[in-house]
Amino acid sequence: MELLTKTLFLCLALALTNGGPVPPHDAPVNDAALPDRCEGIEFDAITPDEKGNTFFFKGSHLWMGFHGAVQLANESFKELDDLHHIGHVDAAFRMHNVENPDDHDHIYFFLDDKVFSYYNHTLEDGYPKEIQEDFPGVPSHLDAAVECPKGECMADSVLFFKGHDVHVYDINTKTVKTKTWPHLPVCTSALRWLEHYYCFHGHNFTRFNPVTGVVSGAYPKDARHYFMKCPDYGHGGDYEVPKCSEVKLNAITTDDAGKSYSFAGPVYMRLDTRHEGLHAFPITRAWKEMTNGVDAAFSYNDNMYLIKDDHIYIYKTAAHYTLIDGYPKTLKEELGIEGHVDAAFVCPDQHTVYVIQGRMMSDVDLSATPRTVNMPVPLPMSDIDATLCNADGIYLFKGSNYYRYVTPMILAMSRMTPQPLPVTNAMLGCQD
Ligand SMILES: *[C@@H]1O[C@H](CO)[C@@H](O)[C@H](O)[C@H]1NC(C)=O
Ligand SMILES: *[C@@H]1O[C@H](CO)[C@@H](O)[C@H](O)[C@H]1NC(C)=O
Ligand SMILES: *[C@@H]1O[C@H](CO)[C@@H](O)[C@H](O)[C@H]1NC(C)=O
Repeated sequence: MELLTKTLFLCLALALTNGGPVPPHDAPVNDAALPDRCEGIEFDAITPDEKGNTFFFKGSHLWMGFHGAVQLANESFKELDDLHHIGHVDAAFRMHNVENPDDHDHIYFFLDDKVFSYYNHTLEDGYPKEIQEDFPGVPSHLDAAVECPKGECMADSVLFFKGHDVHVYDINTKTVKTKTWPHLPVCTSALRWLEHYYCFHGHNFTRFNPVTGVVSGAYPKDARHYFMKCPDYGHGGDYEVPKCSEVKLNAITTDDAGKSYSFAGPVYMRLDTRHEGLHAFPITRAWKEMTNGVDAAFSYNDNMYLIKDDHIYIYKTAAHYTLIDGYPKTLKEELGIEGHVDAAFVCPDQHTVYVIQGRMMSDVDLSATPRTVNMPVPLPMSDIDATLCNADGIYLFKGSNYYRYVTPMILAMSRMTPQPLPVTNAMLGCQD
């Protein structure tokens, strides 16, 4: 296994692009009276802000990010302290409401029967309010809250947790449906992170499906292995984001919705949500049939095509990827291609897939049946790992280097190997 693959695989635990915020110089981080999240505490609330920083709340304190030092909550959200008798946050979430820019990305805090709305760490006019003024039908004294955008839930929604009840609040119709999920632990905080939903309870967490509440996989897990950097816990303690010089991809693609994924060994990374942190997940989490990794990937017509050995899998792109009936098929049957595929790409709004095998590149018109494979052309380089075509051109990745061409035609015509360029953090989220 290549180094990047190994690093990602071992460190499914925790992968952030940056080391987190620098502790304020006056924060008495070693004071024994301060809560220490590495001791295994139960959080009151967890929410990202509009920049994607994740805040963890406990009593009158908070942590910003997965690596940050403990701080007083009133330093970041000063009005939360005005209700001195409360001293803690019951629940918090970041509003996802693209139809209403006045609310979108605001953070909502729930304290007893009050709700506070913040944007840019500033309390909005008119807050705090009674919870039911903003969220009719939602109870006071909540345990947890998490946003659930349309696509992941039926409509743009917020899930409010209280005991085993989940109040699913539809943001646009302002209606509530209450469900009971007795199999899920009582969540004291909840977080949506990289399209996954987590219920936190004690120092553990459980991942759940936001529509059905179903838990699949081995849960609960200890939050200290995953959501914070603690000595002696998992790989979080000494984790280093892979160096750009050690990158080795198997495949990369960007779908029509703008979601970008890289594949390396058994894991994938979502590249376009980097502000929420980078994290490697098992490929089977999103594409459950791809149990042996991916050799090449391309996107076409709202579908994602994944190639492994001599088979091709076509997934419908929606909130979740679903394998289209009848697949996998052989490469021969679907594209008229035989043999191992190193990389493949389709440029935006084009119908031609370019398939790279060893030193040769062939092309197939995806809008024509039966398929005809055009005469392969030799490339100026061999051993390409992965390719991506976007508005800026074609990127051919080979280990930790890449080559860029403006169009497939120029690539097909070129005879001289251009100077390889090193991959960068901005491209692949690796460490420069
Ligand atoms: C924040 O809370 C601490 C402790 O409760 C208090 O001493 C401090 O004055 C508060 N700061 C602000 C800005 O309200
Ligand atoms: C955010 O708040 C800071 C000060 O707290 C201010 O300087 C800045 O202009 C604000 N940004 C926006 C986009 O409102
Ligand atoms: C946390 O999860 C572990 C299993 O991973 C379990 O043994 C333990 O009892 C749980 N602790 C709490 C406080 O929920």
